[in-house]
Amino acid sequence: MTLTKKILIVANWKMNLNVSQASLLVHKLDKKIPIHKDLEVVLAPPMLQLQPLSLQIDHRKFKLASQDAYYKDEGAYTGQVSFTMLSHLVQYGIVGHSERRNIFNESLTETAQKVAAAYRNGITPILCVGETKIERLSGETNQVLHDQVVSALSNITSEEVRSLVIAYEPVWAIGNGEPAKPKDVANAIKTIKLNVLELYGKKAAEEVRILYGGSVTPDTVSGYIRLPEVDGLLVGGASLNYLSFSDIVANAYRVGRGLTTKQDKA
Ligand code: PGA
Repeated sequence: MTLTKKILIVANWKMNLNVSQASLLVHKLDKKIPIHKDLEVVLAPPMLQLQPLSLQIDHRKFKLASQDAYYKDEGAYTGQVSFTMLSHLVQYGIVGHSERRNIFNESLTETAQKVAAAYRNGITPILCVGETKIERLSGETNQVLHDQVVSALSNITSEEVRSLVIAYEPVWAIGNGEPAKPKDVANAIKTIKLNVLELYGKKAAEEVRILYGGSVTPDTVSGYIRLPEVDGLLVGGASLNYLSFSDIVANAYRVGRGLTTKQDKA
C-alpha cells in the first residue's frame, strides 16, 4: 500500500539543552536529515533557543515551534512570553501539553485561550490531548478526549480547525518507554475525529492533522505511520539524540512512501 500523506514529525526538547548544546544538535541533525518534500520536521526547543536557531536552521528542512506561550498578547505579566512575540519566529506552537496541564495546573479554559492566541498571531497550534492512567483504567478515555478537544476549540472558527494539528499523547505513555499500542492509538484518534466532526463538520474532521506522541523510538515509528489515522509523531526523549531522531524521520519518510524500514526487516 502506498501512502501519500504528508507527514509531520515534531521534536519536543522540553527543558533540555543550553544554547550551544542546542546549536550542536541542530548541526548534527542537518547533516543527517535531507530536504523532504512530503515530510515536515519541526523543532520545539526551549524558548531561549528559538532566536539563535531561527538564524541557524535550513528553513527548507526545519521549522520551529514554541513549547508553550501566554495567551495575552502583551502587558504586565512578569515572566511570560506571548504568541505575538513569537509570531516572526515560529510556525507552530505546542499548546496544552500534559506537563503544562498537570505540573502547572493549566486549565481547559487557559488551553482554549492559548489555541485562540496562537491563531490570532498566525501560529498553527499543536494541541496536545490525552488521558492519564487512572482515567484510562476507569474507562474515561473518550470523555476526557471529548472535554479536552471540545473546550480547546471553543474560541476558533471551522476554517481555523482545518489547519489545526492535534497530538494524541496518552499521559501514561509519555517519557517511560511504554508506548501505546497502534490499535489503541487508532481508536483514540477515531474519537477525536468524531468530536471534531460533530462540532465543525466533515471537511474539518478530514483535514485536521493528528499526531501520536508517547515514548516514540525508531523501532515503533512504522506501527503508527502505517495507520491511516496518523499524520505524524510528537517525539520527546528520542528527539534529544541526533541518531535516534534522524532515524525516526527516515523511518517515517520510508513508511509514508510505502517502503519498509530497517526495523521492519529485523
Ligand atoms: P516522550 O515525550 O517521547 O519522551 O514520551 C513525548 C511528549 O511528551 O511530547
